[in-house]
Amino acid sequence: MTQDEMKQKVAEAALKYVKAGTVIGVGTGSTANMFIDALVSMKDSIRGTVASSKATAERLAGHGIPVLDLNEALSQVDSLSVYIDGADEFDGGRNLTKGGGGALTREKITAAASDQFICIVDETKKVEYLGVFPLPIEVIPMARELVAGVAKKLGGRPVLREGFTTDNGNIIIDVHGLKIANPRGMEDELNSVPGVVTNGIFSHQGADVVLVGTPSGVQLID
Ligand code: 5RP
Repeated sequence: MTQDEMKQKVAEAALKYVKAGTVIGVGTGSTANMFIDALVSMKDSIRGTVASSKATAERLAGHGIPVLDLNEALSQVDSLSVYIDGADEFDGGRNLTKGGGGALTREKITAAASDQFICIVDETKKVEYLGVFPLPIEVIPMARELVAGVAKKLGGRPVLREGFTTDNGNIIIDVHGLKIANPRGMEDELNSVPGVVTNGIFSHQGADVVLVGTPSGVQLID
């Protein structure tokens, strides 16, 4: 089975977490795109969606699925019922690295506004320690060298994502070579540096359920 076939299976499996009449959060990336395509079958039963990026909002709208701004949604409902998104890595504690597509900040905000986070990944994303995939950090441009210096002190090799601007108008620094044994501590430490908008460790906003696509079927970690 190919990686795309495993992604397709978990994307479809996530539909069962979508409850009729609710507003749901929708992630960004190729796995989330497969989920969006599958969601078309339920578009008339949900109240709406909140998108974690401009690209996701465009794809949802292109399918005729209603998209709400998060503030608008939270003036109508107390919370989003579920957030469904992929990840670049997951560990045994359901901590994630996200932001390969650069949407980490809006993804973290949408996850925080949701009652439940269902992460949809294929088995190649499993790691013992986060950090095998370079850790993305969204940074206000003025703070680029300050944040890069902190990343070096933490043992990483910061690389500016060339030619990329986030939906929020900021830059991304990808930090290579970290072995993240304490995801929550690293998430907090990096987020405490002035100029960091957020980093791609999702420990505070870790997944409630990870659906893992494997050649033998979808496994559930909760
Ligand atoms: C985007 C993300 C994605 O969830 C992550 O990059 C995984 O992408 P894909 O489903 O294409 O493998 O965090 O910012």
